Order: sequence, then C-alpha cells, then structure tokens
Amino acid sequence: MLASAALLALATAVAARKCHDLTIPISISSRNAVFSLPAPVTEAQVTQFFIDFVRPGYNMTDNYLKGYNTISGHYTIAATYCQPDNGPGSTLQILTHGAAFDRSYWDYPFNNHEYSYVARAVDEHGYSTFSWDRLGIGRSTKGDPVNEIQQFLEVAALTELSALLRSGSVKGVDAKFDKFVHVGHSFGSAMTYNFINQNPDFSDAAVLTGYSQVPNYIVGFALGGNFKPIKEISSLARSYPAGYVGVDTTIGMNIQFFAPGDFDPKMLSYATAHGQPAAPGEILTIGAGSANTNAFSGKILVITGDRDLPFCGGNCTDTTAIQGAYPDLIAASKPFFPNATFNSVVVPNGGHGLNLGYSAKSAYDSIFEFLESSL
Ligand SMILES: *[C@@H]1O[C@H](CO)[C@@H](O)[C@H](O)[C@H]1NC(C)=O
Ligand SMILES: *[C@@H]1O[C@H](CO)[C@@H](O)[C@H](O)[C@H]1NC(C)=O
Ligand SMILES: *[C@@H]1O[C@H](CO)[C@@H](O)[C@H](O)[C@H]1NC(C)=O
Repeated sequence: MLASAALLALATAVAARKCHDLTIPISISSRNAVFSLPAPVTEAQVTQFFIDFVRPGYNMTDNYLKGYNTISGHYTIAATYCQPDNGPGSTLQILTHGAAFDRSYWDYPFNNHEYSYVARAVDEHGYSTFSWDRLGIGRSTKGDPVNEIQQFLEVAALTELSALLRSGSVKGVDAKFDKFVHVGHSFGSAMTYNFINQNPDFSDAAVLTGYSQVPNYIVGFALGGNFKPIKEISSLARSYPAGYVGVDTTIGMNIQFFAPGDFDPKMLSYATAHGQPAAPGEILTIGAGSANTNAFSGKILVITGDRDLPFCGGNCTDTTAIQGAYPDLIAASKPFFPNATFNSVVVPNGGHGLNLGYSAKSAYDSIFEFLESSL
C-alpha cells in the first residue's frame, strides 16, 4: 500500500507540468470591416441579429459592410505558458480557443484537469504550450464589439504573438523553439486557418479542431444557443462592454457543444457557468478567408467530432452537402490545402466542444499520433 502510494506520488511529481500566466503587451494593426450595425443590446436586437445571420438569400455581413478601415492599437494579451518539469520542449504549440471559452479550454479545470489537452501535450509528449485569451475575450483587452473585435484584428494578434515567441521576445518565456505547431478550436481554427495561409512557412504542423469548410450547418448553432445580451448574464455583465452576446443556459451549451451520450452532466454545468461571450464583430467575420485556398506548406490535420453541430450538422459522414465528393465533411477540406500534407479525422461520437466530451481522449490520441509522425 505504502509503496504504491509513494510510487503514485512520484509519478505525479514527474508529470507535473510547470505553467505560469503571462501578460503580453502588443502593438498591432489590421484592415477591419466597418459595419453600420449598432451593437445589439436588447434581447430583441440580439435575437434579430441571429435570425438575420442565418436567413437564406441574405448576406448580413455584406448588408452592414460600409467599407474597410485600418485599426491600430496597443493591446494586452493574457496567456499561459507551460513546459515539462525538466525544461522547455523543442516544439511549441500555440493554442487558440473558440467562441464560448477562454484559454482555459485547453487545460480545462473540471474534474482536476481530467480532460486537459495541455496535460497530455506537456506531461506525456514533452511539448511546451502557449494558450492565450483571444483579443477581446477573457483577461485580454476588450474592445468595440462590432467594429474592433473582428477576426482580422484577432489574427493580427495571433501573428504578432507567434513572431514574438519565435524570436524569444515574450517576457516570461525563457526558451527558443525549433518547431512550431498551431492548434485551434472552432473560431480559433478559423483564425488558425487564416494565419497559416498568410504565413505558410511559419508552422511545421497545424491542427484545426471542431472545424470544417462546409458552411451549411451554422443555423442550429446560431439559433440553438439562445444568445443573450451580455448585460443579462450575471457572471459576465461586469467584465464586458454592452454589445457582446453570450449563452447562459445548459440547454444552449448542450445544443452547441455536447454530443448525445458523450458528456458528463456536471461538465455541461461547469462549461455553462464558466462560459465566455462572443462579439458580433467576430460573428460577422467568422467566415472571412475560409473559402480561400490555403498556401500552408506544412502538415495539416483537421479533426472534428462526428456529432459536431455547427460544422457537420450533427453527422460528419452524411455527405449530402458535398454531393458525396469526399467520404465525409472533414475530408472535404483536402482541396483547400494543395501545398500541405493533408490529414483528416472524424472522431466517433464527438461533439463540437471536442476537448470536453468523453471522446476527448480518442481525439487527443489522433492528434498526438499525427504530430508524432509529422514533426
Ligand atoms: C458575404 O459578404 C461578405 C462581405 O462582402 C463577403 O466577404 C462574403 O464572401 C459573402 N459571403 C457569401 C457566402 O457570399
Ligand atoms: C503552392 O506552391 C506553389 C509553388 O511554390 C505556388 O506557386 C502556389 O501559389 C501555392 N499555392 C497556394 C494555394 O498558395
Ligand atoms: C449519418 O449519415 C449517414 C449517411 O447518410 C447515415 O448512414 C448515418 O446513419 C447517419 N448517422 C447518424 C448518427 O444519424
């Protein structure tokens, strides 16, 4: 008994990743869209925003678009850096979360970090990881929710952070890395897609999780969340300016992120209580660049739960939307990556919140197998 307890303690000590939080000042600029949309602040305005967003025959982004404008600013990014106990890994993974979460998505505290992607990456595979709160979210600088916090500016932030990490100029990250991997989830995958297209030689490998390039199924997500004005969500009202929108019911979170039979009900409650909002400017620019062929020249994995609602309509193997051209909706991304080595995985039973379901373990197995064979 005593011996095994001691052994267990030793194993835990060996596997203890070292993490610390960072506050990173950045100066960036981007060509942002100028929308004539007033920030939605009442329930009726938020509801109408989503009804308009999904209406066929109508392009809401185009309807409100007045032109483009260069935004420049100084911002502060909140991030967490982790490395193995015995020193930095030679490869850094840069992790970008999606809507409804902050950077904790990657090292989810629920059940003593049982679902943590970072734990697997650092403790079992020896990577260093850098996860950041997207600009406009969590503890990073907030901004105008329509004309400032857009995918364009957030990709500019990802680009600047990546360059700073490569050159070893992030205060608090005392390491030089040989290789880089960019990993995204959902909106963070859309951003990662644009980053690797704009910087095709930067990363050795990239992983897009909770993602596809089939736009047909966003309706269920947009309406199923029952988004509310931020000022009506008590856990978030004081942290964000009016105009942000969020989901604060377990029903909404369940529809958007969890697949049938694949989740612990306590996880759903936890994710709902700790949810983060989205900015309408992000929703209006979510599809920006995703129909462009990607110049990325490294190894790419697109990996999505079979029951992902927004990107697969709850069934990645039904190929009606792509006229059966590929075996599943994830494999359909292949022609977008003519210069990369393309891989795709549909995770059995997985939902959109890939890291938070019981299937997360098999998703991680696929990701690390891909990375091991790619780097
Ligand atoms: C909607 O309009 C935006 C802005 O003009 C454009 O970039 C986008 O391609 C359009 N989307 C579709 C599906 O046509
Ligand atoms: C792929 O690489 C070739 C050769 O470098 C280049 O001409 C082409 O533009 C690249 N494709 C994309 C989509 O960027
Ligand atoms: C998904 O679609 C395929 C092909 O249409 C079908 O055979 C399968 O039963 C569907 N899966 C679910 C879970 O409904």
